[in-house]
Amino acid sequence: MTRIKENIVGLDAAILMSPKIWQASGHLTAGFADELVECKKCHHRFRKDFLEKDICPDCQGPLTEPRKFNLMMKTFIGPLEGEASQAYLRAETCQGIYVNFLNVLNSSRLKIPFGIAQIGKSFRNEITPGNFIYRTREFEQMEMQWFCPPDKAAEFFAYWKEERMKWYLDLGLKKENLRFREVGQDELAHYAKAAVDIEYKFPFGWKEIEGVHNRGDWDLSNHAKHSGQDLSYFDEEKKERYFPHIIETSVGADRSFLAFLIDAYDEVKGGRTKTTESVKEEEVVLRLSGRIAPIKLAILPLLKNKPELVKKAKEVFDLLKTDFYCQYDEAGSIGRRYRRQDEVGTVFCLTVDFDSLEKDDLTLRDRDTMEQERIKIADLPSVIKKRLEK
Ligand code: GAP
Repeated sequence: MTRIKENIVGLDAAILMSPKIWQASGHLTAGFADELVECKKCHHRFRKDFLEKDICPDCQGPLTEPRKFNLMMKTFIGPLEGEASQAYLRAETCQGIYVNFLNVLNSSRLKIPFGIAQIGKSFRNEITPGNFIYRTREFEQMEMQWFCPPDKAAEFFAYWKEERMKWYLDLGLKKENLRFREVGQDELAHYAKAAVDIEYKFPFGWKEIEGVHNRGDWDLSNHAKHSGQDLSYFDEEKKERYFPHIIETSVGADRSFLAFLIDAYDEVKGGRTKTTESVKEEEVVLRLSGRIAPIKLAILPLLKNKPELVKKAKEVFDLLKTDFYCQYDEAGSIGRRYRRQDEVGTVFCLTVDFDSLEKDDLTLRDRDTMEQERIKIADLPSVIKKRLEK
C-alpha cells in the first residue's frame, strides 16, 4: 500500500482515544453493538445472530430476550476513575486516520484522491471469541482509507474491491477458497453506504477476512461537526469545497494470516523422500509464498564437527542476514534439518559442503520442488531476491 502505490501514506495513530471521537464516529451512540442473549438455565451467553435456534446450544435451556451489548473497551487515564478520565481502546484503526486527516493533508502535499494506511491493534469486547485466531478481543487490523471526490466514490469502490482480491491471489491464496459477498442493505454497518466482504473458505465455513466499504462522507462530516474543525477539502480543479468520500479496505491481519496458513499447510502422506532414516508416515510442508514466509533462508553446514564448514556457513549467514530473515542450523542430520525447515515454511536451504571450500559455492534447495542447484556465494543476494519476489 505505502511503497508500491505512490499516493498512499502510512500512519501510526493513538490506541487510547477520547470518548468524544467514538461519539462522533457513532460507535457509542449508533450501531456498534451486538445482540446478547443468556441461557436462563446454564447462564452461558451468546451472540444472537450466531444462533440457529432460539434455545441454548449448550444445555437446550430457554434464552433471555436479546439486549444490546456495546463492544467498545473502556479504560481510565490518570489516577482518578471518573467521567472526565474515561478513554476507549480503539475498536478500529481507521478513526485514528480520520482525526489525523488534516495533519496528513497539511504535511504531505497530497491531492485528492489519496490514501492513508495503518496497521495496528484494535480491541472489541467480543461476546464469543473463537475459532483459533479468527475472532479475538485484541486483533491486528490493516486498514487503508481512500479519500476521493463524491462523484468518484462508486468507481473507486469497484476498483479497490478488485485490487484487494488480487492481493490475496498474488500472495498465494487459492482462487477456489476466495469469494466476494455483497453485504445487504439491512446488514450494513452504521457508517457504510455500500460494502462487500472478501470471504475465505475456512474449515469452519465461509467467513469474512476483509471488508471493503464505501463510507461516504459519514466520518469526516461527523468529526467536523463534533470537533468544530473544518475537515472539508478545497478541490483546485473543480473549484469547489466538499467532504471527501471514503473508500475503506479493512483487513484483519490475524484472520487473513490464518487463511494463508491453512492454504499453505500441506501434509504429504508417506513423506516426500524415502531416505533410510526418514521413512515416516507423513511430512509437513508449509508452502507459504516467498513474499510472506517469515523465514526466508536456512544456512546449514553439512557437518557440525568440521570447523572449516561451520566457519564458511557462518560467513554466508553474515553475508545474508541483513537482507533476508535467515536461520543458522547445525543440529542433526541434513535430511532432518531440511524437514524441520520445510515444516516452518523456510523458502530455501543453503548447504555448505566440502566443495564450497574449494569453489566458493553452495547448494540451494527449493522447499517446494526439493530441487538442488549449485550457486556461487557471491551471487546469492541477487539470486535470492529475485526468486523471493516470484
Ligand atoms: N473499519 C472498518 C471495520 O473495522 P469490520 O468489518 O468491523 O470493519 C474489519 O472489521 C476486519 O477486521 C474484518 O474483516 C476482520 O478481518 C477484522 N476483525 C474484526 N473483528 C475482529 C475480531 N474480533 N478478531 C479478529 N479480527 C477481527
